[in-house]
Amino acid sequence: MNKISIIGAGMTGSTTAHWLAERELADLVLVDVVEGMPQGKGLDMLEAMPIIGRDVNIVGSNDYAATKGSDIIIITAGLPRKPGMSRDDLLTANAEIVGKAATETLKYSPDAIYIVLTNPLDTMAYLTMKLTKLPRERVVGQAGILDSARMRAFVAMETGVSVQNINCYVLGGHGDEMVPLTRHSNIAGVSLRDYLPADRLAAIVERTRKGGGEIVNLLKTGSAFYAPSAAVAQMAEAILKDKHLIVPCAAYMNGEYGLNDMFFGVQVQLGRKGMEKVVEYKLDAEEKALFDKSAAAVKDTHEALKKLVKI
Ligand code: APR
Repeated sequence: MNKISIIGAGMTGSTTAHWLAERELADLVLVDVVEGMPQGKGLDMLEAMPIIGRDVNIVGSNDYAATKGSDIIIITAGLPRKPGMSRDDLLTANAEIVGKAATETLKYSPDAIYIVLTNPLDTMAYLTMKLTKLPRERVVGQAGILDSARMRAFVAMETGVSVQNINCYVLGGHGDEMVPLTRHSNIAGVSLRDYLPADRLAAIVERTRKGGGEIVNLLKTGSAFYAPSAAVAQMAEAILKDKHLIVPCAAYMNGEYGLNDMFFGVQVQLGRKGMEKVVEYKLDAEEKALFDKSAAAVKDTHEALKKLVKI
């Protein structure tokens, strides 16, 4: 059986475990600093397995040793946003938490593929790769599937068409400067620019960009977790089943789109080796300008990280 360890057993981490257990993909380990909480959630979820008929072992622990031999490490440990906060406001607190999670888990699972979810996402993925010194194939961040799913949901609300016919691609950094590619996004192959009036499409783009904040303002005590965790589960499945699935994720840039030494949301192909390749769009001038603006914002956060941590 494959093994997936989830660091941070809060809302996102435990919901990720829930989606993964449903898929019967791997045995699961939940790790958290709070005593008893990961053990309790793990046992509770394990006791649900006879009901849904899944043979999956689930354990919780406060000790990284429990993660030994994992195929995938998912990092969701850290603080979520509260109303009025940007993702970048989380940098200082989460850099310390994610840094420890990355280096401690690597000791027990030197062959694991890392999926990072903690915000500020692009920069936490960058930190994970720098501290573990892993090749770029083995560290990937999740935001693009989520941001694209939000846009797909909004298009479905607007048109009444099945979500299965709606393909949206939101790339760039996971912040307000994210880049919804409306020209490439489509309903059954028809570009959204042809399907929707311009003002409706602009409203959907705006709502997508602020999609995370919309949930934070409703919840008040934390940030979204159902859709983010569903996105992570899709990635883990693509990796363990070696699907070569192309999905938007944060990947380390090695010249793609003219970007270097940073994480950025792009289309990647996921398989058993992790991030197998970056699939590039041909951008027009308007899209390129949006990419550059988003990349500059991510670079700023990377630079702020470098002032905090020696990497
Ligand atoms: N090691 C392990 N777990 C930790 C550590 C640590 N050093 N520090 C904090 N945690 C745990 C907390 O105890 C908590 O259970 O991380 C968990 C985070 O869970 P929540 O507070 O419920 O936050 P969640 O909504 O899951 O978001 C976590 O994911 O989507 C991002 O922006 C989000 O950065 C945030 C992260």
